[in-house]
Amino acid sequence: MQEISSVRETLLARYETLDDKASILRAPELKQLFAGIKDQPADQRAAYGQAVNALKVELEAKINQLSEAQEALPPIDVTAPFDANANEPEFLPTEQGSIHPLNQEISELSDIFYRMGFNISGSREIDDQYHMFETLNFPKGHPARDDYDTFMTVETDKDGDPFIAPAHTSTMQNRMLKKYKDNLEAGKPIAVVVPDRVFRNEDLDARHEHTFYQFEGIYVDRGVHAGMLIATLKTFLQEYYGKELDVRVNPFYFPFTEPSFEFALSCPFCDKKGCHICSQAGWIELLGCGMIHPNVLRAADIDPNEYTGFAWGGGVERLVMMKYGIEDVRHFESAKLDFLRQF
Ligand code: DAH
Repeated sequence: MQEISSVRETLLARYETLDDKASILRAPELKQLFAGIKDQPADQRAAYGQAVNALKVELEAKINQLSEAQEALPPIDVTAPFDANANEPEFLPTEQGSIHPLNQEISELSDIFYRMGFNISGSREIDDQYHMFETLNFPKGHPARDDYDTFMTVETDKDGDPFIAPAHTSTMQNRMLKKYKDNLEAGKPIAVVVPDRVFRNEDLDARHEHTFYQFEGIYVDRGVHAGMLIATLKTFLQEYYGKELDVRVNPFYFPFTEPSFEFALSCPFCDKKGCHICSQAGWIELLGCGMIHPNVLRAADIDPNEYTGFAWGGGVERLVMMKYGIEDVRHFESAKLDFLRQF
């Protein structure tokens, strides 16, 4: 029995060193113990045999336990979802971000207008009904207020009206007219462009977003007429698209301009032949514009008998989609890097 326990210790120690654990069952020491059973005195032979067998069972159990543990480990598949050690992660190709295409194009259009003599200003992300409607000749209860699906706050201003997320950049007209009024007295025009973000409670599709950008233009001086409006916009668009374009002006209605127009340009992709970018029309409606209504000038203390002006408001996304042939406005706010990296 003494012999069995010393063989047991030897084998357990050796077991730890073996690569092929199962080979411990073929150890010569174990074979010798089995072979020695028959040489034991008859009264001890059974107990001896059981002890040798118990050692073998113990070693077998250790081996089985180990292979069960190995089977329980999940197999390693280096291809799923990717081998983290083999590839550079694809979603961060550079250490720096890039300028969003809308910001890039807003800089570009601001630069063109600046070179044409306009000041550039920003709008705001929360405003009041006075600037959204009243100063723009939509008195309270005016039906055209319903054309704008504005987001409103629960909080109200001093008149008890909810604040609004501006639904157009025209909210800045009154402020800009007041800010630059001194220009007129100094014999210079008011000339401002306001590119900024606006918000509408829209149903979203390839052409409609709830959050988008507009660029507002305001020009006031003595003797300003509609021909100057059309020439200004045409000059800007030709500079922006880098080619000669035809423009089309149709009558329209806005409370803050009289007369009002809808301004379209010939599709820069198909030259009026019709293509998928212009929905086969050959023309693209780009912005609303007109001669500033006398009431809008009066709201800024400018005498409409002395001064006249024009204004326009256009969608930046539409302009950029046209430039690059982008088919869906929702790409801009989607945070899709493979879209953004193309710019
Ligand atoms: N604010 C108008 C809109 O978002 C666009 C517009 C039309 C702006 C005519 C103007 C304008 O300044 O004169 O629908």
